[in-house]
Amino acid sequence: MGFSKGVFLILYLFLFFFNHSFSSLGLSSKELSEIPINFLKFAKKSEVFDWMVGIRRKLHENPELGYEEFETSKLIREELDKMGISYKYPVAVTGVIGSIGSGKPPFVAIRADMDALPIQEKVEWDHKSKNPGKMHACGHDAHVAMLLGAAKILQENHKLIKGTVLLVFQPAEEGGGGAKKMIDAGALENVEAIFGLHVASHVPLAEVESRSGPLLAGSGFFESVISGKGGHAAIPQHSIDPILAASNVIVSLQHLVSREADPLDSQVVTVAKFQGGGAFNVIPDYVTIGGTFRAFSKESLIQLKQRIEEVIMGQAAVQRCNATVNFFSNEKPLFPPSVNDKDLHKLFQKVAGNMFGSDGVKDMQPLMGSEDFAFYQEVIPGYFFFLGMKDETMKQNPLPHSPYFRLSEDGLPYGAAMHASLVVRYLLEYQMEIPVVTVDSHDEL
Ligand SMILES: *[C@@H]1O[C@H](CO)[C@@H](O)[C@H](O)[C@H]1NC(C)=O
Ligand SMILES: [Zn+2]
Ligand SMILES: [Zn+2]
Repeated sequence: MGFSKGVFLILYLFLFFFNHSFSSLGLSSKELSEIPINFLKFAKKSEVFDWMVGIRRKLHENPELGYEEFETSKLIREELDKMGISYKYPVAVTGVIGSIGSGKPPFVAIRADMDALPIQEKVEWDHKSKNPGKMHACGHDAHVAMLLGAAKILQENHKLIKGTVLLVFQPAEEGGGGAKKMIDAGALENVEAIFGLHVASHVPLAEVESRSGPLLAGSGFFESVISGKGGHAAIPQHSIDPILAASNVIVSLQHLVSREADPLDSQVVTVAKFQGGGAFNVIPDYVTIGGTFRAFSKESLIQLKQRIEEVIMGQAAVQRCNATVNFFSNEKPLFPPSVNDKDLHKLFQKVAGNMFGSDGVKDMQPLMGSEDFAFYQEVIPGYFFFLGMKDETMKQNPLPHSPYFRLSEDGLPYGAAMHASLVVRYLLEYQMEIPVVTVDSHDEL
């Protein structure tokens, strides 16, 4: 097999240099740079734009919470059916994974989350939420509309897809760890890279923001019941006061970040819940406290988790109380930090630069917020960015999770075109080395 080995080696070297010194698959760099512009033009066409707006509004009127996104998922499948795009369903309860392209490797994925929040919408407009106490206050309605928009662009330009694009519609981003369930269900099998975006109501239209490396913090939640012995508030010597014990616990927890963490490694511990007692003259039996902790590395996060438990148990014992600590490992798994791959960052800068010009591509500081997109990034290279959808008609733009949250629907074409451009360019600019290496190694083994 010496002959074919030599041929493959020459072929490999030729393609390697061809790929690196010229552009990919015969497309000039000018042609590559026009892809995002053409996709955006297509997404801005009135029939495509109106269709996306329609989907977004329908979802906004009918928000569903994590793992209950049945109507949302149905709407997605109906739209995929209309476009003739095949999909897997159900994945992780309500999730859908569409597939466009050759059906063969390389596989690259784009993701949207589908869930709403338990918030009563306070924005008065024609498409206000019809589900009491539920609202798309994080823009996941727009995420779904933009991923379907990307599907339309990709279907229209399927000849440009050198491999397979997976459209990942996942449930339960808001604390439910839907991404983790999708991965457990095999969503990332053979997938090389994944992209995701989030609407940003404070960033102007035609602008995107992100960074290479750590972007969003990892997070966990905890709840603790501190039990003492209730009794008359005027005879404390006959009681064990859990309110005082819990107060000391909370103060001690604040020392984890101020005294134990590296000041250059940003971390947060917040006690956001403190419940106990009721009467002015009764020491209660127990107090419940709870909160969240955040860090930019998995090590720091695990360290915080361990120390939170130790401090609660130890400090409660100092006051003669017992304590239990719950980290909700099943319902609310520890979210890893969201870390952007540096090569994908370069691709993002090129693609977004083509679409928005360099002024529209901003570098941002990391945020202490969390995203369950980080679960994908723990497994394969991933890239997450923020898309400007600021509503310029408003004096102030409430942030996500506000009952007044709003965004400009004019941003939808940008998100759809970014999704589609990133995956098409990824496959065009990264795929050539893979099949050749595969042929070579098959020959040898
Ligand atoms: C703590 O737990 C121990 C062992 O179960 C028990 O004997 C004690 O009464 C508890 N103390 C309080 C204050 O609940
Ligand atoms: Zn959210
Ligand atoms: Zn969100």
